[in-house]
Amino acid sequence: MINDLSIKNSEDLLNKISKNDITVTVIGLGYVGLPLAIEFAKKNIKTYGIDVDLNKVNALKKGENYIKDINDKWVSDCVSSGYLIATDNFEFVKECDVIFICVPTPFTANKEPDISYIVSAAENVSQNMRANQVIILKSTTFPGTTTKNVLPILEASGLKAGSDFWLAFSPERIDPGNQKWNTSNTPIVVGGLTDTCTKVAAAAHNLVVEKVVTVSTPEIAEMEKLLENIFRSVNIALVNELAKLCDRIGINIWEVVSAAATKPFGFMPFYPGPGIGGHCILIDPYYLAWMAREYDFVTNFITLAAEINEDMPFYVRQMVIKEIAKQPIIMSQAKVLILGMAFKRDVDDLRHSPALKVAELLLDDGINNINYHDPYIPEVKIKNIIYYSTPALTAELVRDHDIILITTDHSVFDFNMVSQNAKVVIDTRNACKDINDKSNIVLLGDGK
Ligand SMILES: NC(=O)c1ccc[n+]([C@@H]2O[C@H](COP(=O)([O-])OP(=O)(O)OC[C@H]3O[C@@H](n4cnc5c(N)ncnc54)[C@H](O)[C@@H]3O)[C@@H](O)[C@H]2O)c1
Repeated sequence: MINDLSIKNSEDLLNKISKNDITVTVIGLGYVGLPLAIEFAKKNIKTYGIDVDLNKVNALKKGENYIKDINDKWVSDCVSSGYLIATDNFEFVKECDVIFICVPTPFTANKEPDISYIVSAAENVSQNMRANQVIILKSTTFPGTTTKNVLPILEASGLKAGSDFWLAFSPERIDPGNQKWNTSNTPIVVGGLTDTCTKVAAAAHNLVVEKVVTVSTPEIAEMEKLLENIFRSVNIALVNELAKLCDRIGINIWEVVSAAATKPFGFMPFYPGPGIGGHCILIDPYYLAWMAREYDFVTNFITLAAEINEDMPFYVRQMVIKEIAKQPIIMSQAKVLILGMAFKRDVDDLRHSPALKVAELLLDDGINNINYHDPYIPEVKIKNIIYYSTPALTAELVRDHDIILITTDHSVFDFNMVSQNAKVVIDTRNACKDINDKSNIVLLGDGK
């Protein structure tokens, strides 16, 4: 029930927000949380960044940046000016008017949602909150998390949502590595528990985001985020399946997609690859599939798409084995150089990278002479062994390997040099498209 006091409370908070006279907390300082915290701190708004990872907290205390897309100087300036304060102490939540939760939402080994990080962050907020704060969950999750999981934890504080405090879900859309779209110029969706919750959460976002779109419930906002990511997953799966078919019948899928993309309406190009990775597109279909089961609903189409994408590293493994078989070497002696470990171009994010999966499968097959080069991933653990990136991508390094496998097309790679010096290049990203002599290049989805 909204009473006079709650209206006055929300007006007080909206008034403070309109004057930039607020203190903000961002819980979880990763790829999502740190850019958001920096946006507020850059506006001279006192911002606490809370993380349980002391390495991150201590780096930030020294003004050191660890997210590739963020300008180092912004971080050092925000810290030295005192507008960004990194801490692992949740007591600072009390001081804040606006609280964002940006913690991970992974899946378990059985691919079921793991919202334990959200639960833990909400419990910490609940133990330290006060009246007239707005709490905004930004972690991607299944519909109902805000109202069924987060709300009861927060109300255990004795405060009531919609009258004593404000609660909303607003999914993050940041696309690491994207030079054009960032935290501030990407429109954001906000769905609050009540109209007032939506209004307050939207106003808080408006301080740092150019366009805020409001929806009627947190569930709509939660579901629209899953739709965005599942839309990508199913379209990538479609083109991955077509790539395999094109391999079988000898048609170049890349040329097919480029040709289709000339249609000015009704088509959006997606490209095949060695599989999908990162913290979102791979995981999110499983969040929805899990939730759907509770309603006796099987998301066949969505799950099939996820399966097709997850099969791609296995398909690439077969491509490697086939190319080794054509050379006068045996598998255990073949030397494979993997180019790019990150899950996509120009990022330093290794989470669920298909390159990791391919490497693991090759090791399973007894292809033990594996090296990799990735300027953004200095080391990786594969099957409990630490591998270090080769220090440089040189002609000598390329000549020293039997197979060069391009899994991530970082823009710093010199693919011309690679193709000139390689015995065989297996290209899963069409990275060698501009190279004239393609005689030693085996391209995923061109059937040659
Ligand atoms: N990475 C992306 O591109 C992206 C884009 C859109 C949405 N998302 C979503 O945003 C959420 C966060 O993703 P991310 O990529 O920033 O993850 P991340 O792992 O980079 O960062 C999360 C941070 O939260 C911290 N953390 C974990 N539990 C905590 C707790 N209880 N209290 C305080 N800090 C805690 C971790 O130490 C970590 O630093 C996920 O739900 C993800 O699906 C991510």
